[in-house]
Amino acid sequence: MADQFSPLQSICYERGLLRLLDQRKLPLETVYLDILNAADGWNAIRDMVVRGAPAIAISAALSLAVEIFNLDFSGTSLEAASFLVKKLDYLVSSRPTAVNLSDAATKLQNLVLKTVETTDEAKLVFQTYITAAERMLIDDVNTNKAIGFHGANDIQSNLKGSKTVSILTHCNTGSLATAGYGTALGVIRALHANGFLETAFCTETRPFNQGSRLTAFELVHDKIHATLIADSAAASLMKVRTIGAVVVGADRIAANGDTANKIGTYNLAICALHHAVPFYVAAPVTSIDLSLRSGDQIVIEERSPKELLCSDGGLGKQVAASGIGVWNPAFDVTPAYLITAIITEKGVIRKALADDFDIKGFLQNAASGNEG
Ligand code: MRU
Repeated sequence: MADQFSPLQSICYERGLLRLLDQRKLPLETVYLDILNAADGWNAIRDMVVRGAPAIAISAALSLAVEIFNLDFSGTSLEAASFLVKKLDYLVSSRPTAVNLSDAATKLQNLVLKTVETTDEAKLVFQTYITAAERMLIDDVNTNKAIGFHGANDIQSNLKGSKTVSILTHCNTGSLATAGYGTALGVIRALHANGFLETAFCTETRPFNQGSRLTAFELVHDKIHATLIADSAAASLMKVRTIGAVVVGADRIAANGDTANKIGTYNLAICALHHAVPFYVAAPVTSIDLSLRSGDQIVIEERSPKELLCSDGGLGKQVAASGIGVWNPAFDVTPAYLITAIITEKGVIRKALADDFDIKGFLQNAASGNEG
């Protein structure tokens, strides 16, 4: 099945079959792992076979779709619903920070519970789940293209004097982190397609090197003019080169706009403010968590010390001195006051007043047809 997909496609799915591109092996090897059930999905997410907020959510949903498609189930419709609800709760426990996974799980659980009110057939409950999970895979690409469109338009309309713009991005937010095209990397793809991109700068994104291994791979694949920098070179880059904007993704955006994203994002935002470089977050509305007032309430995943102690983000041999203590948060929170605007598929969210965003108001407005 994998042969028919682009090398940038991390999720390969057809009904009853799911294969995930093992992103730990990129860019040197292209290896797909068969995902047969929710337990395989959980492990693939926890072990970083698949990563990136939207890709995690979709892979989790599809791992369960595959499990129930191949399951010989003889229970009632209520038992089918309860089976799905429990498995989704279990999948959510794989990684805590990205809200897309719990958002997807809640939507699917609500759908299943609604379906069971109208049918006695377990098969129909499963069928409804499978169709909804498959829809997520399809919808995500369109969402990302809309993010790319709005983001590129916004950046292009702010170009003063120069005809092209250089963008700095962090981590991997591209095809590999989504169902295709990407969010922040989608904005870079759209700027490139429109002829407005000078250079895409990508950070290596230690310790797991999502930038040097994955984003660099995508940029080279798409023949986009790009340069890799060490994470610690970002401030110097902003000082000595003209960077038009920093564009990053998000794992969870609180109601006031505070944004959790890959560790190091906060450093970039501080540097951007210092150098008067606009700082954009690009994410689908499924990355927004209106239940959290601010970023202080976001749970930040801490990962194994091995990722810092060993080369290749923990996959290689030990390089750090034995006995050293390690703190390895996978994400940080960038406060809203450092963020210029949030690019979504529904338009660009700006600050009306003060330092915070009125995201709820924006979404209500968008729902009533007034896209920003
Ligand atoms: O630990 P990761 O690789 O899952 O972290 C990924 C990020 O932080 C991305 O920026 C974010 O999930 C957005 S991906 C479109």
